[in-house]
Amino acid sequence: MSSSLFLLLSLLVPTLMLEFRYHDNREIEQYLVQVSADNPDITHLYSIGKSVKGQQLWVLALGLRPRRHAVGVPEFKYVANMHGNEVLGRVLLLQLIAELVRGYRDNETWSLQLLNSTRIHILPTMNPDGFDEADTNCLMSQGRANHNGVDLNRGFPDAFAGLRKQQELNEEQREAEVRAVIGWLRSETFVLSANLHGGAMVASYPYDNSDQGSGWMVSPSIAPDDDVFVHLAKVYSYNHASMHKGNLCDDSGPFQDGITNGYSWYKLEGGMQDYNYVWAQCLELTLELSCCKFPQPKELPALWMDNKKALLAYIQQVHLGVKGQVFDGWGMPVQNAVVEVEGRRNMCPFRTNQHGEYYRLLLPGNYTFKVSYPGHEVLTETLSVPYGPEQYSAMKHDFKLRRVASATVRVQAEPSPSCNYSLLPRGGAAAGSAWNGLTVGFSLVTVLQTVMD
Ligand SMILES: *[C@@H]1O[C@H](CO)[C@@H](O)[C@H](O)[C@H]1NC(C)=O
Ligand SMILES: *[C@@H]1O[C@H](CO)[C@@H](O)[C@H](O)[C@H]1NC(C)=O
Ligand SMILES: *[C@@H]1O[C@H](CO)[C@@H](O)[C@H](O)[C@H]1NC(C)=O
Ligand SMILES: *[C@@H]1O[C@H](CO)[C@@H](O)[C@H](O)[C@H]1NC(C)=O
Ligand SMILES: [Zn+2]
Repeated sequence: MSSSLFLLLSLLVPTLMLEFRYHDNREIEQYLVQVSADNPDITHLYSIGKSVKGQQLWVLALGLRPRRHAVGVPEFKYVANMHGNEVLGRVLLLQLIAELVRGYRDNETWSLQLLNSTRIHILPTMNPDGFDEADTNCLMSQGRANHNGVDLNRGFPDAFAGLRKQQELNEEQREAEVRAVIGWLRSETFVLSANLHGGAMVASYPYDNSDQGSGWMVSPSIAPDDDVFVHLAKVYSYNHASMHKGNLCDDSGPFQDGITNGYSWYKLEGGMQDYNYVWAQCLELTLELSCCKFPQPKELPALWMDNKKALLAYIQQVHLGVKGQVFDGWGMPVQNAVVEVEGRRNMCPFRTNQHGEYYRLLLPGNYTFKVSYPGHEVLTETLSVPYGPEQYSAMKHDFKLRRVASATVRVQAEPSPSCNYSLLPRGGAAAGSAWNGLTVGFSLVTVLQTVMD
């Protein structure tokens, strides 16, 4: 394309020049509609439902195949503004969309590679009603909740809260925004996610809850994939301009390396991050990206520059580990095959999706996989896993099952995953070596100061 034609096109596509300011919900909608109309080849706009007041929860998907899942292409998501008064994430995600589209149109290799290998879903506001009610205070919580006054990050089912409590609150009783996200998680096999907040500077990772009771929160609540979570959190904090230095906001923690186990910061029940991990086999972090929940508009360009590299590097981590399909004795991909990694006892074991696919984020090393499916012999294989993000692809490995002699007809595994609640960390047993005396004094402070983030 000639440069003058390109210039003309740029003038016709003002969406690529996104102003640094707080766009309201209507403007965000208009922006997303325009980007998707201008870039139908790499974007797809859809809604996952409506807020309590009936505002659409828009998601923009970006990728070379933006409209539907393709086998082998992992699904990634970013969610912002779950707390209506924590607003930086809205701005960052719009800028991220603009940057991905601009990079692709300019043939920049990083953008071509990312969009060719990944489907990226972006929900700029999960709580548009709360945003409408928010004030611009740095610390307070006006607008944090949704229109019904419910904190959405306390509104998800929580495995630690026990089965009885889950049943008390059935799905229809949950908030509209929470139901929309739960439905979204069922509709796509998300592999990696982050949810963007404000009021601190730290990358926080599961678990947020524990059944250690209501005492002082002194120890981390360690997930089976803790090593991967720590790595993911450090990828964000070290690619961020300053987060890795820790101790950036006067009133929050020392946060060594700019990361923290959620529970060892403060206990949180019904959070979205634990829900994603425990029930949707999607690893999610909570990213706290500004000390002030509502930064001054003039600070926005610098805040974007602080986060840009980290936001992109984090997406690339969706290519950690191993991915592939599980085939039955007839050579057909099977749904609900259980794919376990030795030493990682996930409460709800990872299962294959409707295409027979599994995705397993793992750090480089050797891992023993155990794959099981009714009517078939349990398959055990040890894999040597390289570092995938640099290649924009996890290692690909398919599992081919052998049917047991007696199996003459294909069986369908039961669709509802069975979860083993006794595998959650409990009692003092969860206290790992990461715990130290500092955490105690620090937790007292954060617990008392319950204007949360
Ligand atoms: C990008 O690459 C395509 C295909 O090679 C080409 O048609 C297009 O003009 C390039 N765009 C720019 C902005 O260089
Ligand atoms: C996308 O990836 C495929 C396979 O990985 C490759 O053949 C193709 O050239 C890539 N396209 C771009 C635009 O990078
Ligand atoms: C993984 O196994 C291979 C042999 O299969 C061995 O050469 C390598 O050192 C092992 N790596 C680790 C990290 O244990
Ligand atoms: C759940 O996990 C516990 C602890 O490892 C184990 O003893 C128990 O047999 C498991 N239950 C089921 C149904 O798998
Ligand atoms: Zn928050």
